[in-house]
Amino acid sequence: MIFTVAIDGPAAAGKGTVSRAVADHFGFRHLDTGLLYRAVGARMLAGEDAVAAAEALSPDDLRSPDLRTQDVAAAASRVAVVPEVRAALVAFQRGFARSEGGAVLDGRDIGTVICPEAEAKLYVTASPEIRAERRFAELVARGAEVTLAGVLEDVLARDARDMGRAEAPLRAAGDATLIDTSDMAVEDAVAAAIAAVEVRRSGRG
Ligand code: DC
Repeated sequence: MIFTVAIDGPAAAGKGTVSRAVADHFGFRHLDTGLLYRAVGARMLAGEDAVAAAEALSPDDLRSPDLRTQDVAAAASRVAVVPEVRAALVAFQRGFARSEGGAVLDGRDIGTVICPEAEAKLYVTASPEIRAERRFAELVARGAEVTLAGVLEDVLARDARDMGRAEAPLRAAGDATLIDTSDMAVEDAVAAAIAAVEVRRSGRG
């Protein structure tokens, strides 16, 4: 059984939580494609050429606990504008998407570029202010010294770079189901996502 769920949206909109819950619910594998760009960003920060790093990426690179920092997130967003970096990561993502047993991929260009043929597509978003508040709370809980204004600035800068780049910019696919989580509890966002995928699985959508 081949079934791809493509989940796109801006940083800190709740994509990760929704994607993991959808994968668990349907028994599908999950790939957080942001980790690929973060791993390349981390290797660039360590002094490597970004394209060479993308071409040499291995599964072990995705397991590093350091990929969750704000510095690595910003570096990921910077290497993600380089067409050769994106090209080096396409085959792995497509192979994962079409692997047997069903797959959920979350990122920025899954429904538009990586898997335009995905059986189900979601676009998960929230206002920049709400996303900044959530990310701020997460960072403070991890002991980071940040301000809400600083986190909002990062969120807006990352949105501008992810949406404004020439190559595979962040946008909703025409046939994606939009889920705005600004005023939603996590469990409601998860339920909405599962319901949208279920409609496609049963051929009703
Ligand atoms: O989802 P994330 O915050 O882990 O992603 C980090 C950066 O990687 C994001 O700012 C842009 C880039 N990215 C991308 O360009 N395409 C994807 N499919 C996933 C992430």
